[in-house]
This record gives sequence, structure tokens and C-alpha cells, in this order.
Amino acid sequence: MAFTFFFRDLPVLEYAVHETIKLAMGRMRIKVWDAGSALGQEPYTVAILFAERLGATFNNLYLDATDYDSENNFGDIVTQATYKYEELQRIPVDIFKKYFVAQENDLYRVCDKVRSRVFFRYHDLLSLKPIGSDYALVVCKNVLLHFQYSERIEVITMYHQALSPGGFLALENTQKMPVEILHLFEQVVPDAQLYRKI
Ligand SMILES: C[S@@+](CC[C@H](N)C(=O)[O-])C[C@H]1O[C@@H](n2cnc3c(N)ncnc32)[C@H](O)[C@@H]1O
Repeated sequence: MAFTFFFRDLPVLEYAVHETIKLAMGRMRIKVWDAGSALGQEPYTVAILFAERLGATFNNLYLDATDYDSENNFGDIVTQATYKYEELQRIPVDIFKKYFVAQENDLYRVCDKVRSRVFFRYHDLLSLKPIGSDYALVVCKNVLLHFQYSERIEVITMYHQALSPGGFLALENTQKMPVEILHLFEQVVPDAQLYRKI
């Protein structure tokens, strides 16, 4: 079972969303890729952060969530977007009330507005084939640590290809950019693993 939770590493995600909106202002589409999305907690967190800031233009968001775990039916779980109440307690109460709808048996479902902007598909990052192009933001947290050093370089290079000019890459805080590809990105702030494509 993949370890993940809603609103994990919130400061970096908030900052990434803020910078992405500045970059994508005026665009008809804001494309985001959450790579290694597990059971949906992270992509729905990111989508909610966009919903809070985009208001009426939230429908411009296209958030692709990918994972390779087909054995455990991650796709069905992400698409259903239904979670136990105990999993949702870290979410600020006002956000929880706004974006989650009560179901039976202490379950809550992400509201239609947010669910409709998140598109799950199975994808193995080590295929090194990007799922698309022109992403304004790629979020890849707590995934690269499972890969060998040379694979990390290849996967991050793939993200570089998938990003639009000036697009952002958010990694977990313990993941440093390998020196071999430092020239592809600039770090946005010293204390967070948020990078801008050069
Ligand atoms: C620890 S979870 C991280 C979930 C979320 N990104 C977070 O930070 O909370 C790692 C996820 O990476 C996925 N993963 C591992 N190797 C992968 C690969 N080669 N391609 C796609 N996903 C992979 C796992 O299935 C798992 O869902």
C-alpha cells in the first residue's frame, strides 16, 4: 500500500500552485501532471489548492494523475475519490466542508467540481515516455527515492521535456537535483525543492 495523505507537504504545494498560476495566467489550459499519485490524496490536494485560487477559471485546470500500480486498482480508487473520514482529519475544516460530500458509512467523496478536473491513467515512469507535453507543473513527490540514481536523472529529464517553457517541477524536500542535470532547472527558493525549467 502506498503511503500518502491529504495536504502532505502543504507549504511546497501551495507555493508551486501560486507560481504556476502566475506563469499560466491568461492561458486557456493549465496542465498539471501528478506523477506517482498513489490513491489520489496528493492530486486532489493540488486540485483543491487550484480551486481555491482560480475561482471561475478553475475549469481551465487539467490535472493528469498517474501511477503504475494496476494490481491494487489505483485507477478505480482515484476515479471514485471516496475516502474514510479518519483519512480526512488533517484537512482544514472549511476546506473539508467545501470540497467533500458525505456518503454512507463514514465515507466522503471529493466533490464533482474537483473530481471532474482530475484524470487518472496508468503509467510507468521508468518507460521514460512522457504522458504529454506543455505541462505548467509536474509534481513528483516521494517516488524518485525508489529509483536508482541513473534512473532519477532519466525520469527528471523526461519531466523537463514534458514541461512548458518556464514550467515548474516539485520534488520532495529530501530529493536534491542531481548535479548532472542541474543546468536544466533553476531552484525557485533555497528552502524548497521547487524548480523552474530553464
Ligand atoms: C510513497 S507513494 C507517494 C504518493 C504521493 N506522491 C505522495 O507524496 O504522498 C509512491 C508512489 O509511487 C508509485 N510508483 C513507484 N514506482 C513507480 C513507477 N515506476 N511508475 C509510476 N509510479 C510509481 C507507487 O505506486 C506509489 O503509489
